Amino acid sequence: KIPLWVDCDPGHDDACAILIAAYHPCFELLGVSTVHGNASLQKCTNNALSVLEAIGKPEIPVVPGSSRPFCRTVDTASDIHGESGLAGTSLLPQPSRLPLSHCNAVKEMRDALLAQPKNTSYLVTCGPLTNAALLFATFPEVAEHIAGFSAMGGAIGSNFTNVSMGPPYLDSRGVSRDRTGNKTPFAEFNIWVDPESARSILQNPVLQPKTTLITLDLTHQAYATRRVQNMLLNHGNPSQLRVMFNELLMFFAQTYAEVFGLTEGPPLHDPLAVAVLLDRHPDEDVRISFDDQGGERWDVDVILEGEQIGRTTITKASSGHGVRIPRSLDADKFWHALELCMNRADQT
Ligand code: BDR
Ligand code: CA
Repeated sequence: KIPLWVDCDPGHDDACAILIAAYHPCFELLGVSTVHGNASLQKCTNNALSVLEAIGKPEIPVVPGSSRPFCRTVDTASDIHGESGLAGTSLLPQPSRLPLSHCNAVKEMRDALLAQPKNTSYLVTCGPLTNAALLFATFPEVAEHIAGFSAMGGAIGSNFTNVSMGPPYLDSRGVSRDRTGNKTPFAEFNIWVDPESARSILQNPVLQPKTTLITLDLTHQAYATRRVQNMLLNHGNPSQLRVMFNELLMFFAQTYAEVFGLTEGPPLHDPLAVAVLLDRHPDEDVRISFDDQGGERWDVDVILEGEQIGRTTITKASSGHGVRIPRSLDADKFWHALELCMNRADQT
């Protein structure tokens, strides 16, 4: 099993990331840390506890981390995820336990990851990179020790994958241009919220060769369409858990339709940062292929000032360096894995 720690800001797609991390037979979920992002830290922490309770994994540790970005004010995504961060269902249980507030999230992450043999454990981030940046700055040995780091964040644009991120925007001269980001025309939410933390991670030379960045260019190839939602509803014979996830996805679909005019279904960003750990699995039935065009690697920079703040820019990296940014995935295998996890959660 692959030991992994999930750092997140639940969040509708974060909830699906937790489900896969907790129930895929190939994973051992070591713990969950929370970060400001889609909602306040307190709400995201409460949501993480509720999701784990709903899916029957109340024993997984949940530790609250940073309540604000490195040097900027807090912003949230209530237009997408609702005021609570996880709106749209009344079936989420109230948590029956408290988070481990007496612990420090960064220390817990370090301890959990270092407790695994060298080159085996993974860190996955599904929110702003504040906790992760603190972790690698404070305990650089963690970057040496882990097998990999995978983050949902960033947007490349300019035909990196030929996928549309929604309707074009009008620039300051009134010219219609292709949209790259979702928070601004240039920037993806997780990076925009704390660009300094993101930059410190993406430019960490020890971490770079171990890093996979799951950008919007990829996540917009995994829309939870009606067909997918129907499959997850067990074709009309749903459990309460499936109804709950369906209600969450319907809410997410509605806000994506309202805010971005995307009517096919919402992109399921965060669980792809978990699923990519199965990319090189030896068992073909388990493997979910992510294509990086034969191993291309990128130097990534993050713009910290001006109109394009939070934008991720890339240049080709020399071999042995740089970050992996997959351009496409086998989406059917991904949905199949999500269904498998739903099924396993149903049986507990
Ligand atoms: C990211 O922003 C959040 O709203 C989602 O949970 C995801 O992590 C997508 O830009
Ligand atoms: Ca998230």
